[in-house]
Amino acid sequence: MPSGNPEIQYYDGDELNIRRVIEQSDLQALDQALNICDLSSVERKHRLWQKLLPRIKPYYAVKCNDDPVVVKLLAELGAGFDCASKNELKLVLGFDVSPERIIFANPCRPVSHLEYARDNQVANGTVDNEFEVYKLHKHYANSNLIVRFKSEAKEAQCPLGDKFGCDADVDAAALMLLAKSLDLKVTGTSFHVGSGCSELEAYDRAIKKANNLFKYGGLLGYDMDFLDIGGGFPGSDDEKFARIAESVNTSVKRHFPDERVQIIAEPGRFFVAAAYTLVCKIHAKREVRNESGKLDTVMYYLNDGVYGSFNCILYDHQVVTAEHYLDETNVLPQLKSLIWGPSCDAFDKISENLFLPNMNRGDLLGFRNMGAYTMPIASPFNGFDVPKTLYFRAI
Ligand SMILES: Cc1ncc(COP(=O)(O)O)c(C=O)c1O
Repeated sequence: MPSGNPEIQYYDGDELNIRRVIEQSDLQALDQALNICDLSSVERKHRLWQKLLPRIKPYYAVKCNDDPVVVKLLAELGAGFDCASKNELKLVLGFDVSPERIIFANPCRPVSHLEYARDNQVANGTVDNEFEVYKLHKHYANSNLIVRFKSEAKEAQCPLGDKFGCDADVDAAALMLLAKSLDLKVTGTSFHVGSGCSELEAYDRAIKKANNLFKYGGLLGYDMDFLDIGGGFPGSDDEKFARIAESVNTSVKRHFPDERVQIIAEPGRFFVAAAYTLVCKIHAKREVRNESGKLDTVMYYLNDGVYGSFNCILYDHQVVTAEHYLDETNVLPQLKSLIWGPSCDAFDKISENLFLPNMNRGDLLGFRNMGAYTMPIASPFNGFDVPKTLYFRAI
């Protein structure tokens, strides 16, 4: 049974005051960096989703942030879940989520994970190649096959199409035919336009392709009733989300007017990115001077880096912005600065060519929107602890 029950601190008002949290936490006594997680931000995102995409049920992509506290909250809010592995399935099922609220959305699974899904009646799973169809035939023949096809946005932070998704025009039909010949059930289709999608039309293009596959499924005698529109929704730009939602709603109305078709999505960063602010402490500093001895750059060494939560810079192509907590009433001169992580690796660079006031050991830097694709990947490389998390919720 996952824990998911740490101490949650309650705050008054609409927004968590990060400065106040910092003032009240003894960060000087803490070696590791601190994640400040605002659970109310996750709740707000859930409300926003329901308001703007009422027909589409969100199945949170656990891979994005598998913090049991967040998963538990989303389970209580009634969300579904996209799991990629046996451990993610275990985590979600441990919060009494019924198997119908889960999709095993990894088209290439080890057999033991598939067997775990079968033993726990998690029937919905994606598939994008013939080997997996045969694997399912052998190990989970009465599961629901959701054919994942490729339909990528022209612009996305993390495209996924090189790894997953069959060709929508030829291969998907061949897979469905193969499934039919093996007496397997194809119940729907799925796609992922790419994480951090920046092309509004991408969803419409993919939904149209899904509609063609539903028609083909009908010709094969399948009564398909499950459409999965994947992830790709922004984490910290609600206006962009509203534009995407409008485009998705229009497309769904046009291509899937039949309300009997259940439509789900697999949002990851949408729910969690904005909920986390990471606060790092400066533990060392160096000044770099040019040949004439003039100060060129101030370098700071922080207690988290690219082997910790800032791995998001490398793997998720995130752009992080540092903010300081020095006295804002003073107009402080800004110096060219570079910030490093704590390890002995020169690759461990967080950000350079930024302008910050002159800071010292013990001063803090905050980074907003650090909830997506950060903590699950963080490692204690060089013996430095990954950040600790404190949880807050509005009363
Ligand atoms: C299959 C699948 N679904 C959903 C997601 C979540 O995507 P996002 O965080 O863009 O919503 C991912 C991310 O990699 C994924 O691979």
